[in-house]
Amino acid sequence: MTRGLFISFEGGEGAGKSTQIKLLAAKLRAKGYRLTVTREPGGSPGAEAVRHVILSGAAETFGPKMEALLFAAARSDHIEQVIRPAIERGDIVLCDRFVDSSRVYQGGSGEIDPVFMTALERVSLNGMMPDLTLIFDIDPALGMQRATARRGDDAADRFEKETLAVHRSRREAYLEIARKEPERCIVIDASQPVETVEHAVTEVVFRTVEACFASAPGQAQEA
Ligand code: TYD
Repeated sequence: MTRGLFISFEGGEGAGKSTQIKLLAAKLRAKGYRLTVTREPGGSPGAEAVRHVILSGAAETFGPKMEALLFAAARSDHIEQVIRPAIERGDIVLCDRFVDSSRVYQGGSGEIDPVFMTALERVSLNGMMPDLTLIFDIDPALGMQRATARRGDDAADRFEKETLAVHRSRREAYLEIARKEPERCIVIDASQPVETVEHAVTEVVFRTVEACFASAPGQAQEA
């Protein structure tokens, strides 16, 4: 059966995920690999509609459980409409944020029963976990500086405007996931210059891609 490769990119605000995904996508395309590049929250029409509701803060008043449900609903639609079909076609999927964001941002808030989070995760993922997750690690003080500079005059979203202490605990939660799942997660030092981070990302991803398609060379590549 044809099967692609699912790679997710995680990390706090201003860690540089989006920049690195663009650079990596260009390199993979240049090698002829077929890609699906997507993001969360969003990535499918249904999930993009939910994205606006969440990031505007409109759902905040309903509490953390409701927000977690909305993220999970958006993820379920995104998986079934976009990610699973792409993986079944044999594409490499690059996804900007995925389930670890829910584990860290919603689960790590301490306001939701872990049993509820686990159940939600099982239902929404329906067996779809990334093969590889790159965790972009950066001191939140530096990440927030970058995020503020990037945003310019636009208002901070629902999650960006939280305190440095909250961003610090998210960083620890990501590192804890990496410690618990070393086969899936690689931590990238995102405080380094763009070219250095790019080099690290390229090295890890191409190693995984080449190992994945070694038995079927050309499978994920354009004819
Ligand atoms: P986005 O503008 O895409 O941020 P970034 O460029 O940092 O990826 O906004 C996504 C925000 O939503 C981000 O602050 C993290 C948060 N989020 C969650 O809280 N839970 C989730 O499951 C996901 C996917 C994102």
